[in-house]
Amino acid sequence: MLEGKKIVIGVTGGIAAYKTVTLVSRLVQAKAQVRVIMTEAATKLVSPLLFKEISGGPVACDMWCGNQEFNVEHVALGRWCDLMVVAPATANIIGKMANGIADDLLSTTLMACDKPKIICPAMNTNMLNNPAVMRNLETLSQDGISIMPSAAGHLACGVNGSGRLPEPEDIKEYIDHFFARHEGDLAGLKLLVTAGGTREAIDPVRFIGNRSSGKMGYAIARDAACRGADVVLVSGPVALEPPPCVRVIPVESTQEMLDACLAVYPDVDAVIKAAAVADYKPHHAAEQKIKKNEESLTLTLDKNPDILKLLGERKTHQFLVGFAAETQHLVENAAAKVRKKNLDMIVANDVTVKGAGFSTDTNIVKFLFPDGSIREPGLLTKEEVGNLILDIVKEHFRK
Ligand code: C5P
Repeated sequence: MLEGKKIVIGVTGGIAAYKTVTLVSRLVQAKAQVRVIMTEAATKLVSPLLFKEISGGPVACDMWCGNQEFNVEHVALGRWCDLMVVAPATANIIGKMANGIADDLLSTTLMACDKPKIICPAMNTNMLNNPAVMRNLETLSQDGISIMPSAAGHLACGVNGSGRLPEPEDIKEYIDHFFARHEGDLAGLKLLVTAGGTREAIDPVRFIGNRSSGKMGYAIARDAACRGADVVLVSGPVALEPPPCVRVIPVESTQEMLDACLAVYPDVDAVIKAAAVADYKPHHAAEQKIKKNEESLTLTLDKNPDILKLLGERKTHQFLVGFAAETQHLVENAAAKVRKKNLDMIVANDVTVKGAGFSTDTNIVKFLFPDGSIREPGLLTKEEVGNLILDIVKEHFRK
């Protein structure tokens, strides 16, 4: 997405300005054309020469020096670029942008530029929570400026809290997604993905769970976002990093997953239900930890709601994709589910086959459709399976 894109990076005088050097380097490696504008404060922290060497272009710091690259530099840079990014964005530049103050090259260029803008606020937690800063950020958001949320962690002032500049790799990914949402082949598509296994409480410390790693659903969510879709990921507990630029709703039980899915269902175009949902739950979850006093313990289980079936019943316009992990009669069982759950497609795999199913990085799947047709793409990575599913969803909405 970044190849050939023209990006102006505004660097202000936050201590995290040193990270922006790496950001510029990553963008250049991704073949973007980068121009850097620094505020005077930023030049006290990082040498403009460093940004010049890394970006491969001149660095603009001053309205009045007379040796600019362009005529009327502040207008020309805004016109030249596809996107402006301010990283780090201090309380000061945020205040100026929100209130229409243009008193140096960066703030003037931002005002003259009618291209999309992203800001990455980075400052001390108290400053970030200051009502004036919060008000200014709200104004900028209403003005259509994208605000990348700051990260939490160690701050230069010695405390732990929010206000850290996100890592350069994450900012690059955010910029990538920004372009994808405008130009990606799934731009405009709203997608609900579920992933991971659900857990049903037996008592406060024990649960019934399953072996789902969540890898398949996470791969789909990540790829869909990279291709420009607006993705909500409803996820059971997993040991995976949340994919960038995806709204993750963490859940534990099947009932929680159902509630989360129903809340977003009317607004989405497609649902990919990769979660391994617990079909049964203990009739009664003990309030206290169960003691091992008895020789045997009997749990009575009640059937959980079938989320996908309920979505199938309430379908208005959504394209519904289910998964079928089977250990026998793969095609027959999967085809029955397409009918019973009112699906538009099912992704079936025999989990007993080597290279397929839980916790592997690959999968061997068959796609089954309501008209009885079957597609068999063979052994693929979960990433590739995810992209194929997304291609089919895309085809459906192109018709
Ligand atoms: O019927 P079975 O559980 O094998 O169907 C699997 C598909 O149905 C998966 O897509 C899974 O996410 C979904 N499912 C569900 N709610 C359940 C059980 C399964 O949404 N209670």
